[in-house]
Amino acid sequence: MSDKALLNPYLESSDGILYIDGVSSLELAEKFDTPLYVLVENRIRENYRRLYQTLRRYYEKVRIYYSAKANTNLSVLKILEGEGSCIDAVSPGEVFLALKAGFTPDRILFTGTSVRDDELKFLVESEVTINVDSLSQLRRLLKFHVPEIISVRVNPEIGAGHHEHCITAGRNSKFGIWEEDVVEAYRLAREAGVSRFGIHMHIGSGILTVEPFILAAEKLLSIAHRIRRELDVKFEFIDLGGGLGVPYRPEEKPLDLDLYAERLLGLFLKRVSEYDLGEPWLFIEPGRYIVCDAGVLLTRVNTIKVTPYRKFLGVDAGFNTLIRPAMYGSYHPIVVANKMDWRNEETYDVAGPICESGDLLARDRRLPRISEGDLLAVLNAGAYGFSMSSQYNSRPRCGEVLVKDGRYALIRRRENLNSLLSGQEVPSWLR
Ligand code: LLP
Repeated sequence: MSDKALLNPYLESSDGILYIDGVSSLELAEKFDTPLYVLVENRIRENYRRLYQTLRRYYEKVRIYYSAKANTNLSVLKILEGEGSCIDAVSPGEVFLALKAGFTPDRILFTGTSVRDDELKFLVESEVTINVDSLSQLRRLLKFHVPEIISVRVNPEIGAGHHEHCITAGRNSKFGIWEEDVVEAYRLAREAGVSRFGIHMHIGSGILTVEPFILAAEKLLSIAHRIRRELDVKFEFIDLGGGLGVPYRPEEKPLDLDLYAERLLGLFLKRVSEYDLGEPWLFIEPGRYIVCDAGVLLTRVNTIKVTPYRKFLGVDAGFNTLIRPAMYGSYHPIVVANKMDWRNEETYDVAGPICESGDLLARDRRLPRISEGDLLAVLNAGAYGFSMSSQYNSRPRCGEVLVKDGRYALIRRRENLNSLLSGQEVPSWLR
């Protein structure tokens, strides 16, 4: 199977050229230079609506908290604001951006880890809802402010994810609070005068099967039951986290969304009624699912190097631009934007410009015969692409473009050499 199997309806080939929602990828690369992230507005909206509508078939009180870390471009946030989404934020920076994009504080849930006191103060001043990740964080918060509402991130002791780094619950995880301490957390909060409550978990990222979500939800709901019984706490919301996976390899099967919704909500509704949990809102926090396949990274082939062992395509995007292959060994589908009709007949390693041997976007990738100057499109780059990019090797970060119905606009200018100086000071003795 070829990577082309992962093209979605907004990525079409016409006369051998890749069009992104009606815009020629060659034109975008020419106009804005490469590397370049291209985001498809309609696909973001479609992903959001598909998910929301599927969940809503089972329960009225559902809210989606888009996990901003996947992509915090202001335009992406504004699109989702318009769709009625809420925001899962993990840093003061994400709260700041979400507020700038027009989200009101009541639509922002902060779930940080290793949170500082000054950050807690910022959150309190911003009036967002805080989801605490440790007893220490809760105690430090309550010392200077008693919020009306608080949520506790539970470690449901079941984690899952596409890579060890992306499993965020279970024995070895730094995230969440273990059951006994969860009871203590709600006790502390209630005694301090907190009057409204939520409960939360997030087990990991890039999960393509339904089972882990169900097992973890079962545990979370049993803990909610215990809190309800022992402390008579009523939950305004139960947040089951994000983690909904997206296929990156042509042979991977997508998460069965209907099954996910049917089983997860089925369990939720059953336990909520059995455990007398009232009528809590159900929150989920997807990041990847909303933006991943709405983004393409365009990168140009600078150089071709053939050694006795390998054929390298040297492109202009390295792990400074897209770190997922280097960091997690992730597979990203790649198509040749100016040779869409050509047959795959060569095997290449696709290497970036960073001076490290791990700087490969792909190993042993079957592609058409490539010439220098060809344009590659790395698919599924909308989530954790730009947001994880860096200036490593002193390479300015790339730009981002938004397309919609054949129109396009630059939504982030590429940095330039002066960006490398930004914030730097030279001490007097070196001047
Ligand atoms: N909620 C919380 C509290 C999270 O920590 C995360 C992701 C999400 C929701 C959203 O997860 P998603 O639905 O996107 O899977 N950089 C990695 C992914 C790390 C995700 C960290 N937390 C990657 O590129 O695969």
